[in-house]
Amino acid sequence: MKPREIKPGIYWVGAIDWDRRLFDSLIPLPDGTSYNSYLIKGNEKTALIDTVDPAMQDVLLSNLNQPDFGHIDYVIANHAEQDHSGTIPRVLEKYPGAKIVCTPKCKDMLIDLLMVPEEAFITVNDKETLSLGDRTLEFIHAPWVHWPETMLTYLREDRILFPCDFLGSHLATTDMYVRDGGQVYEAAKRYYAEIMMPFRNIVQKNLEKVKGYNIDIIAPSHGPMHDKPDFILKAYNSWAFDEPKNAVVLPYISMHGSTQKMVEHFVGALAGRGVSVQQFNLAVTDIGKLAMSLVDAATVVLGTPTVLVGPHPKVAYAALLANVLRPNLKFVSIIGSYGWGGKVVEQLAAMIPNLKVEVLDPVLIKGFPRAADFEALDRLASSIAEKHREKGFS
Ligand code: FEO
Repeated sequence: MKPREIKPGIYWVGAIDWDRRLFDSLIPLPDGTSYNSYLIKGNEKTALIDTVDPAMQDVLLSNLNQPDFGHIDYVIANHAEQDHSGTIPRVLEKYPGAKIVCTPKCKDMLIDLLMVPEEAFITVNDKETLSLGDRTLEFIHAPWVHWPETMLTYLREDRILFPCDFLGSHLATTDMYVRDGGQVYEAAKRYYAEIMMPFRNIVQKNLEKVKGYNIDIIAPSHGPMHDKPDFILKAYNSWAFDEPKNAVVLPYISMHGSTQKMVEHFVGALAGRGVSVQQFNLAVTDIGKLAMSLVDAATVVLGTPTVLVGPHPKVAYAALLANVLRPNLKFVSIIGSYGWGGKVVEQLAAMIPNLKVEVLDPVLIKGFPRAADFEALDRLASSIAEKHREKGFS
């Protein structure tokens, strides 16, 4: 994709990665992604906001090769992660004397990660400004969305916020701005769940901070831009501030059908009591979908057979994932089957120390479920429905 003009003198110059399917060797990207880089020309200086993943460095460099772009004076590094910073060394080679503008913490990280020489940096404090002549950049320190060094950049005269990962979405699209709201909502929620949810309290603070700015356009580093900023701000406010919903997430594995039978009965029992359930067979689940479901859920129930005295490793993985993503859960329980005994409950409980949850009595049974076991599942379903009602979750 060639450069695209946002306003006179302001261009998108990034790269769209239609084929990428995995990020951090962990996170599924079903819709690809983009690495958005933006060029801002003032009447005295020119700045580049973030670069692109090194895999697409040639795209950025070719985009910058426009006759009217001229020299780049500043590379604004909002974030040190390599999908945005990884092409900085090539940009510095192309534009000798260009300075990297970033937070002090980001400077240290870029020296560590990319071996950029120390003299290439200008560090900026929170709310500090940088003049490009007739345009002014204001830097807003916003640590932990989602690394400790992150900042946002605000272009005052044009009222454009460049928040890097914050408010972004992994989505490859030719739409410059959000046009398919449903598609972007889904991609942005997936992104929030996987990247931002562990820092929910900090996201809340940053949303408050951003409220102080008049914003016409939000231009994140992944996915389309927002020319109706309320769309993404309202979504983030809801994900970060709202109470959990009357919903259960049920990640499970079944090896020989016993746990499957329990899951089927239990999901029906919850639904019959007015509780929404999303069940995820971990043998085939997209973990991004699982992460998204955790944004709203009040309760997780893990379903597992017993393998070598503990939970099935895929269920252990789901528990560890929930632990690091730190969703706003209130209750956890476990259902499952064993052949001769084990320590499923103790082992799973030890995997979720970050979750501030009440553990509800698990239902672990020997062999295939019988009438008494289904009754126990009904009691657990009633208990969850009652707990949600008491808390006012709807
Ligand atoms: Fe898109 Fe944290 O990098």
